[in-house]
Amino acid sequence: MPIKNRFAELLPEITEWRRDMHENPELMYEVHRTAGLVADRLRAFGCDEVVEGIGRTGVVGVIKGKANGSGRVVGLRADMDALPIHEQTGLDYASKTPGKMHACGHDGHTAMLLGAAKYMAETRNFDGTLVLIFQPAEEGGAGAKAMIDDGLMDRWGIDEVYGVHNGPGIPVGEIMTCPGPLQASSDEFEIIVTGKGGHAAEPHKAVDTTLAAAQIVVTLHTIVSRNIDPLGRVVLTVGVFETDSNASNIIPDKARMEGTVRCLEPEARALAEERVRRVAEDTAAAFGAKAEVIWTPGYPVTVNDATSVEYAAEAARAVGMKVDATANPIMPSEDFSYMLEERPGAYLFLGNGDSAQCHHPEYNFNDEAIPYGCSFFAELVERRMPAA
Ligand code: NI
Repeated sequence: MPIKNRFAELLPEITEWRRDMHENPELMYEVHRTAGLVADRLRAFGCDEVVEGIGRTGVVGVIKGKANGSGRVVGLRADMDALPIHEQTGLDYASKTPGKMHACGHDGHTAMLLGAAKYMAETRNFDGTLVLIFQPAEEGGAGAKAMIDDGLMDRWGIDEVYGVHNGPGIPVGEIMTCPGPLQASSDEFEIIVTGKGGHAAEPHKAVDTTLAAAQIVVTLHTIVSRNIDPLGRVVLTVGVFETDSNASNIIPDKARMEGTVRCLEPEARALAEERVRRVAEDTAAAFGAKAEVIWTPGYPVTVNDATSVEYAAEAARAVGMKVDATANPIMPSEDFSYMLEERPGAYLFLGNGDSAQCHHPEYNFNDEAIPYGCSFFAELVERRMPAA
């Protein structure tokens, strides 16, 4: 069976919603206009319940199937926020706000979930309850966590949860995913090294902060492979390095660095933190300096439930999509990870064709992917909660 015919009919309307959101991007939790439009449409579709303000500006819609003998509740999630990037697509529906754009396709994700909602509210051809989750602040604000902290999973009794993200470079009509870790965790560290400043010509009378800090940078790079299995899929990068000296003949008192650690295994994440602290503190001590480590945890590893991946793959194949369910994981992080820590489910990449990469000023969501994303969502719900 190909895509669901109804979505071919709805495509112009869904595309219009998408382009309207594209023209009016909003950042982080400030997605007031977008959330308002989402809530209005969900009400117009005849959703049984529409609740705004979950996780500050998140929206939840509920559609009951024509039966509820199963008592099952499936959650589908889309993100609504844009990025602080100045759009350079030249599209006639390009962002009207300088410095803000939908450069990650969340406009497309929201439009597809709205399209699926319209169809599901019309047909209700399932036995159970569908919960539609529209979240703010995926781009660094942990909007998924904010919605969970507001009771999302328990208030609506969600049993399992699914989401899709567009995938530039993946052909339209294809889905890629894998069981287990799909996207990396993202933690940040700051290290402040304090030595004893002095004259560059007499370093033996000082504690050379720069040298101690530089040695810390080098030693940090031994953590992956010497402490963490080189096959453990971890990346550590120091992106900032600075001292408080502004002359070549001054040994500074302080040096400062910032870095990020990306892991695909939750266990490696804990070990990485422990080793970053140890390496910084003990290397500094070897030079007679001191290091203070500030560790800021970011998004967790996005871990797909293997059985849910199979369900999702079957649904995608049933609507005529090509599925690669053994794709390689990627290192960018994703806050759907918080939802997958709460409930089994799966996250999938939906082909966006030959487009610019996400977070690029020339990126655009591909509207040709809409009927596939909508059909996938609808088929998945009908299969996970089959009507008698
Ligand atoms: Ni994104």
